[in-house]
Amino acid sequence: MRKPDRLELANLPTPIWSLDGMDYCRENARLFMKRDDFTGFEMGGNKVRKLEYALKQGMDQGAEVFITCGGIQSNHVRAVASAAALFSRKAHLVLSGSDMQPDGNYFLDLLFGASVQFVSEEDYKYRRQQLMEEIRASYTRRGIQAYILPEGASNGIGFFGYYQAYEEIMMQERLLREPFDTICVAVGSGGTYAGLYAANEMYGCRKRIVGFNIYDKNADAEMQIAGIIEEGLRVGGCRNRISYDRIHIVYDYVGEGYGITSSQVMDFIHKTALQTGILLDPVNTGKALYGVVSELYKRNPLLTGNVLYIHTGGQFGIFPQKNRFCL
Ligand SMILES: Cc1ncc(COP(=O)(O)O)c(C=O)c1O
Repeated sequence: MRKPDRLELANLPTPIWSLDGMDYCRENARLFMKRDDFTGFEMGGNKVRKLEYALKQGMDQGAEVFITCGGIQSNHVRAVASAAALFSRKAHLVLSGSDMQPDGNYFLDLLFGASVQFVSEEDYKYRRQQLMEEIRASYTRRGIQAYILPEGASNGIGFFGYYQAYEEIMMQERLLREPFDTICVAVGSGGTYAGLYAANEMYGCRKRIVGFNIYDKNADAEMQIAGIIEEGLRVGGCRNRISYDRIHIVYDYVGEGYGITSSQVMDFIHKTALQTGILLDPVNTGKALYGVVSELYKRNPLLTGNVLYIHTGGQFGIFPQKNRFCL
C-alpha cells in the first residue's frame, strides 16, 4: 500500500492507558484506551488523522477554500474550520438543520471564522454532495479554487488516517508487550473503522475490529465501510483483494438516533467523569464506550482478551447538553 503524503497536524503517537483500575474489566477481558482525544485540541479526536491526508491533497490542488458538511455539532466540521484558520484558508460549511444559539462545536465554527450555510435535514440527507459541488462551482466562477471534503472526511483519502493509526497501534503493542485481541471504536461515517479494518486485513493480524454504530440503527455501515476501503485501496495503488467477512458492527447502542442520548448514557458519562477523570461526549464516545462496557458485562465473545477502545474525542459536544447533568 502506498500511503499518500500528509500534513503533520496531530500529536502522535497518542498514549494507550490501561483501565485495569476501573470496574469495567471482566475476568476474561482487560480494557485499554487509546487517547486519540489527545491528538490535539481544536483539531483533536479522530478527525485530525483523516484531515492530515485530505487537507494535504486539497492544499496540493491549490485550494483556498475547504468546503465540507455535517450536523450542527459536527466535530469534523469544527476541525476543518480550525484547520482553515491555521492555514489562512476559508472554510465553507454546509450544516444540517437550522440556526441556533452558538454553542459547543457550532460556536467554535463561528469563532474560527467559517461561513455557514444551513440546509434542511431532507436536503442534507439526499443532496449534500450536489450542494457542495454547486458551492464549489460558484467559487470556481469567481476564480477561487475550492476543495470538497465529504462528511467526516470518510473517503479513499481520509481512510489513510486510521490505516496509519493501526500501524501506530502495532508499534505500541510491541513496546507495551500487550498484544490487543480486539479494537473497538465508534462508527459514524465509517472512515475510522474502514482504515483500521483494512490495515488489520492487509497485515494479516486477525484482531477483531468491532465498531459501535452511533449514527443510525438502519444504516448499512458494512456497505459504507467496504466502499471507503475499495476507494482507499485504489488511492494507495493496491491491487490486493480483502475479505469483508470479518466486519463487526454493533447497532444496539444508537438509541433513538444520531445526537439523541439516553439518560443511561448520560449517567454513564457522568459516572466515568467522576470515577476516572476521563471526559466522554454524548454523541459519539459516550454511546460507544457505554456499548463496549455493556458488551463486556454480557461477556460478548468478540470482546475478550486485551480490548483496546479508541477514544475518538468530540468533547466539545458535551457543552450544548450540560443541562442534562444533575450536579
Ligand atoms: C468524536 C467522534 N468519534 C467517532 C466518530 C465516528 O467516526 P467516523 O465518522 O469515522 O465513523 C465521529 C464522527 O462521526 C466523532 O465525531
